[in-house]
Amino acid sequence: MLFQFQSSLLWVIYMNELFSNRIAGVPPSFIREILKVAVDPEIISFAGGLPNRDLFPVAALQKATNDIFDEDGKDILQYTGTEGYLPLREMIVADYKRKGLDIDVDEVLITNGSQQGLDLLGKVLLNEEDEVLIEEPGYLGAIQAFEVYRAKFISVPVGQEGMDITSLKEALITSKAKLMYTVPNFQNPSGISYSNENRQAVADCLRETKTLLIEDNPYGDLRFSGENKVSFKTLLPEQTILLGSFSKIIVPSFRLGWIVAPWVLMEKLVIAKQAADLHSNYFCQRVLHRFLKDNDLQAHIEKIISVYGKQKLVMEAAIKRCFPKEVTYLNPEGGMFLWVTLPESLSATELFDKAIEQKVAFVPGDPFYVSKRGLNTLRLNFSSVDPDVINEGIERLGKVLYEMLEK
Ligand SMILES: Cc1ncc(COP(=O)(O)O)c(C=O)c1O
Repeated sequence: MLFQFQSSLLWVIYMNELFSNRIAGVPPSFIREILKVAVDPEIISFAGGLPNRDLFPVAALQKATNDIFDEDGKDILQYTGTEGYLPLREMIVADYKRKGLDIDVDEVLITNGSQQGLDLLGKVLLNEEDEVLIEEPGYLGAIQAFEVYRAKFISVPVGQEGMDITSLKEALITSKAKLMYTVPNFQNPSGISYSNENRQAVADCLRETKTLLIEDNPYGDLRFSGENKVSFKTLLPEQTILLGSFSKIIVPSFRLGWIVAPWVLMEKLVIAKQAADLHSNYFCQRVLHRFLKDNDLQAHIEKIISVYGKQKLVMEAAIKRCFPKEVTYLNPEGGMFLWVTLPESLSATELFDKAIEQKVAFVPGDPFYVSKRGLNTLRLNFSSVDPDVINEGIERLGKVLYEMLEK
């Protein structure tokens, strides 16, 4: 028994020596750790980034599955090409066309969620210590994906209007970034969207550089107020890579998203994807295609927008009613998140510990920053929480905030 224990312990040590430099320094996702705490059914969780499960088109997906089994049972169970199911890629192209973007179907690669798009871009473009410009606060999954390739991050702050242009200009002078990562519509975590003027200014800054811009857009269709904004693909066509996803508008479990990239880059992305998984789940691609063929996606998206829009309003009203006036928030025009800033004297991590005691969870801002810690910001998710529960959760959070401010 003792021998077996010692042997296992030794293997823990050996194993740690075997890990590649690539993975050894990458911490586990902070959010996954938080979600573990938040699984307690009594906890009101604003922590997740989950779409609302009540809006999943269960019956329509079930019907699409039955139909393709009936009609094409053998083919849908076979291997397929790396690029993805052509008719599905054609649908993606048609949707871009509707939005004013001319994309060639050969520029579209179906991926295992847009998260895989980030990994493939890292694999194809980044050597160790290569510089990546990233929004701050920025999407944790992008930070993690590029960390694996040992990128050196240079953060550019974002605010209500978009990127801080002065900081971007400085970063471009002092660095030779290969990539710049952006979520210009209803950003994760802050919910902000870049204004058209800001997009133009960002594009003007990048035009004379060799930096590629990633426009990651999983939330773009979920707009509940304001006007649609221009895509970087229009402003900076050669340098822009688009990432898209079906996770937030249909279901995340299929793990289907896509990359739009110019053909030179696409050739390498296809090789990298072949090495990773040969192709994304063909069966799910076929179900999704059938679903899209037989159903009105726009009507479905309208339904999501109407529910999320109401939930956002309920959260906003509850914040106004229950939070101390020193606490501010950014008002998103779409998406799933609302970003809160506490007075500088308060730490969001401390608030998290106290809020958990009151059975409320959220994500403190820290992990979304590549450089700073101990911050006074936090992310609240409103998409997956019902209005009554939002009211109760914000009320509890408000009480904790008043107590912390009184100390
Ligand atoms: C900004 C952003 N990009 C990419 C992803 C990954 O999405 P998926 O891999 O499900 O397409 C997410 C998920 O929450 C996200 O918020």
